[in-house]
Amino acid sequence: MKIKNICCIGAGYVGGPTMAVIAQKCPDIKVTVVDINTDRIAAWNDENVENIPIYEPGLSDVVAEARGRNLFFSTNVEKAIDEAEMIFISVNTPTKTYGIGKGMAADLKYIELSARQIASVAKSDKIIIEKSTLPVRTAEAIKNILDNSGNGVNFQILSNPEFLAEGTAVENLLNPDRVLIGGEQTEEGEKAVQALVNIYARWIPEDRLLTTNVWSSELSKLTANAFLAQRISSINAMSELCEMTEADVDEVARAIGSDSRIGPKFLKASVGFGGSCFQKDILNLIYIAQSYGLQEVADYWEQVIIMNNHQRNRFSRNIVQTLFNTVSGKKIAFLGWAFKKETNDTRESAAIYVADNLIDEQADIVVYDPKVKSEQMYADLDYLNSRDENINREKLTVVNDPYSACKDAHAIAILTEWDEFKDYDWQRIYDGMMKPAFVFDGRNILDKEKLEEIGFDYYCIGK
Ligand code: UDX
Ligand code: ADP
Repeated sequence: MKIKNICCIGAGYVGGPTMAVIAQKCPDIKVTVVDINTDRIAAWNDENVENIPIYEPGLSDVVAEARGRNLFFSTNVEKAIDEAEMIFISVNTPTKTYGIGKGMAADLKYIELSARQIASVAKSDKIIIEKSTLPVRTAEAIKNILDNSGNGVNFQILSNPEFLAEGTAVENLLNPDRVLIGGEQTEEGEKAVQALVNIYARWIPEDRLLTTNVWSSELSKLTANAFLAQRISSINAMSELCEMTEADVDEVARAIGSDSRIGPKFLKASVGFGGSCFQKDILNLIYIAQSYGLQEVADYWEQVIIMNNHQRNRFSRNIVQTLFNTVSGKKIAFLGWAFKKETNDTRESAAIYVADNLIDEQADIVVYDPKVKSEQMYADLDYLNSRDENINREKLTVVNDPYSACKDAHAIAILTEWDEFKDYDWQRIYDGMMKPAFVFDGRNILDKEKLEEIGFDYYCIGK
């Protein structure tokens, strides 16, 4: 099957960058990214390509090259569905906040709405690709909706989970470790898989294009994220023990990471993992295990989340205890709000939870983050906690330079590993602070010796 038109439903963190790269690499294919969020689409179409709604290194260059040539952003969902032979579903699948599976299962309403819309519009055969992270067997549900409410056309459903990490999305898309494509093991299914393989094969070596059945593909995505998150919780568990025993968690990580069976990556102790995927996918895995009656499997994975929550709470508790058991009315500067560096994404960021704990303790928080806007920070806090929204605005202020954030502060908390934090004039920061001046480095990025020489009381994770 020759693909001439691709549509992607959902212009978010996954859909936007993925389609931009496909469009860049396949100039003969028209790629249309649609979204119901008109502001988001307007931002993707902004004349100044630096204003696109997602910050990712290198992304604006890719968009600048392809946009208007064969990459289009639109709110006309139906037209794009109608024209396309291949449709990616890349809508959000947040954790359910209501009903059965509340707080654990993925909310599939946006997926279902997309499937119903495709079914009602499609007049020709289409390949439908699940891009969003979904619980195992979602493809079956999508197929059911399409086959039972469509206009009698044929749909092939593929699972093609996204493994890109934020901050390195473009690099991951250009040069992925692997691309996973799951399809039905029928003649039609194999043809659909081949059509998608042909697209990726334009720039990715074929030995990195793995094909499996649909269910393996869906479950592999959850498994990959669960394993990665588990490594972080494992090293974080050791970090607490290190603090008790005078071992150094970074040394332990280096020592175990040089065992080629363990490997060095994802062993950085921290204030806790964030991001839209890890917690959500593990909760999903737990929910699926429970729904099959596999309680031990569910309990096993739940520990990864329990450890992560503990790590965030332990970090804020340490700040309060070290500041002589009270932070009430004290200024605490936060450097960083994003869940990791090189992104403006704040979903599940540890900073939100630490801020929430410290607001409960009546601290005055002043935040500086190089990329996150103040409205986002307030939205994050309001979403997490049902306290009066005015209190969040009273107790947390946002500034756009780090030196004024730290001026007159009793303590600084490093919540994101932005590189620029290392290059600040720490003497100048120290001079402007209340004494004793504390730094709580939730990312272990600063030079302990240098800071202690200046006069700071420096705390980091696992030492
Ligand atoms: C993750 C997966 O890596 C990616 O493959 C998947 O498609 C989506 O989820 P992402 O959420 O973008 O990507 O970020 P990632 O780099 O995995 O980091 C997640 C969190 O873990 C961040 O808060 C990061 O700071 C933290 N982290 C990561 C650590 O605390 N220690 C580490 O060693 C690594
Ligand atoms: P992700 O990180 O998975 O990409 P985002 O929340 O960043 O998630 O993006 C998902 C996008 O999908 C949002 O911009 C949302 O408006 C869009 N979306 C959700 N449902 C639909 C729908 N039925 N039609 C079009 N777009 C949708």
